[in-house]
Amino acid sequence: MADPVKVALLGCGTVGSEVARLLTEQADELAARAGAPVELAGIAVRRPDKHPELPQHLLTSDAESLVLSDVDVVVELIGGIEPVRGWLLSALHKGKSVVTANKALLAECSAELSEAADSAGADLYFEAAVAGAIPLLRPLRESLAGDRITKVMGIVNGTTNYILSAMDTTGSGYAETLEEASRLGYAEADPTADIDGYDAASKAAILASLAFHTRVTAADVHREGIGAIGAADIEAAKALGRTVKLLAICERVVDGEGGESVSARVYPAMIPRTHQLAGVGGAFNAVYVEADAAGELMFFGQGAGGAPTASAVLGDLVAVARNRVVGGRGPRESAHAALPIRPMGMTPTRYHISLDVADKPGVLAQVALVFAEHDVSIAAVRQRDSDSTASLVIVTHAAADSALQATVNHIAELDVVREVISVMRVEGEDS
Ligand code: NDP
Ligand code: HSE
Repeated sequence: MADPVKVALLGCGTVGSEVARLLTEQADELAARAGAPVELAGIAVRRPDKHPELPQHLLTSDAESLVLSDVDVVVELIGGIEPVRGWLLSALHKGKSVVTANKALLAECSAELSEAADSAGADLYFEAAVAGAIPLLRPLRESLAGDRITKVMGIVNGTTNYILSAMDTTGSGYAETLEEASRLGYAEADPTADIDGYDAASKAAILASLAFHTRVTAADVHREGIGAIGAADIEAAKALGRTVKLLAICERVVDGEGGESVSARVYPAMIPRTHQLAGVGGAFNAVYVEADAAGELMFFGQGAGGAPTASAVLGDLVAVARNRVVGGRGPRESAHAALPIRPMGMTPTRYHISLDVADKPGVLAQVALVFAEHDVSIAAVRQRDSDSTASLVIVTHAAADSALQATVNHIAELDVVREVISVMRVEGEDS
């Protein structure tokens, strides 16, 4: 057996504590699989005195010194951009490999981290950064490297899926469900990252970068969270046999002249209750991948939580250790396609619009005229009457998102429209 691979663990919270536990409990198995003992050389936390359960001789609050000490691999499970970015760059520049679950960092600084890894011949692995336990990034990076991926769409945030599932099934309130998701260790340290879609947008950036061989950052991803979703939206979806999910969608869009661009977006959308993503409840994640030769693939599993995420981290750690033992490297960044990013306004989407309108002759015609003026085609209309008000539900065909937005704004100004009850995009069905 080769010399031990010495590991610095940065962060020992929800995920880090599970990584430390599994590293200790499965030391012999991991050594056999890696071809060398995988040895925990130090653990950096913010408050060492709060961790009586950990081996005290390994604990430090000085992460920087630990990174620069005689370790081979840095496993980063702290989160956020700074000071972690600087520590990981130092590690990579010194040829130490890095394993991280930090999607926020990768979605912003992937290019410089990859360049540092490449220039020093070190590994940068981050399977746990997207969809927790689900092996997804390695299939995109390696298994599908010979195919042409056209779309990646899925549920990549466990916290919001937990909340939306509860709202749909039990009618539970938003605040109590978020509290439960935090207690279970799914939510980020600042849960607005989950609720406002930042976490999913970071993951979409990572997925789009890998799928389309293009550098996509979080700033390139159109982002909407679930903060504005209320019981009325959930009910409107149910009435039409749909459910609401926060989706990350990464698409290769081909225009009329054959020019390609990348659309990366995160928003809550209605999907048919018969769609496979509709049955994905709780903190589970599921991601569809469409590729020219492979066709449709689906990845499903636990998308958040300590042990599931630790599984992905340890998988990376074994891969990195194996590379060290044989003297090789894992895959480098692949950004050769450098496709342009398609602005959200130019991206084709479909809308579900629910309105309260005056119940009198000519109203439907006035509303329909607005759609025609914006060149938006209507796919279905449903009307339900009560006293002097009618509730109108309209589902459109695909149109440029900016045209759909303009249509909604215009409709809201009509005198005959009493209230726009719910506006949401529709995904997962033919346009
Ligand atoms: P936690 O908040 O549970 O743990 C963070 C850890 O980092 C704590 O041990 C904390 O120390 C330590 N820490 C914070 N600041 C410093 C610092 N300056 N120096 C040294 N240590 C520090 O986070 P999670 O385990 O939930 O998440 C960790 C990472 O994994 C994040 O990037 C997150 O996005 C990602 N992730 C999380 C998932 C989950 O389900 N929780 C799933 C997938 C990815 P102390 O304990 O003393 O406070
Ligand atoms: N907060 C994240 C989620 C953790 O809820 O999905 C997993 O990345």
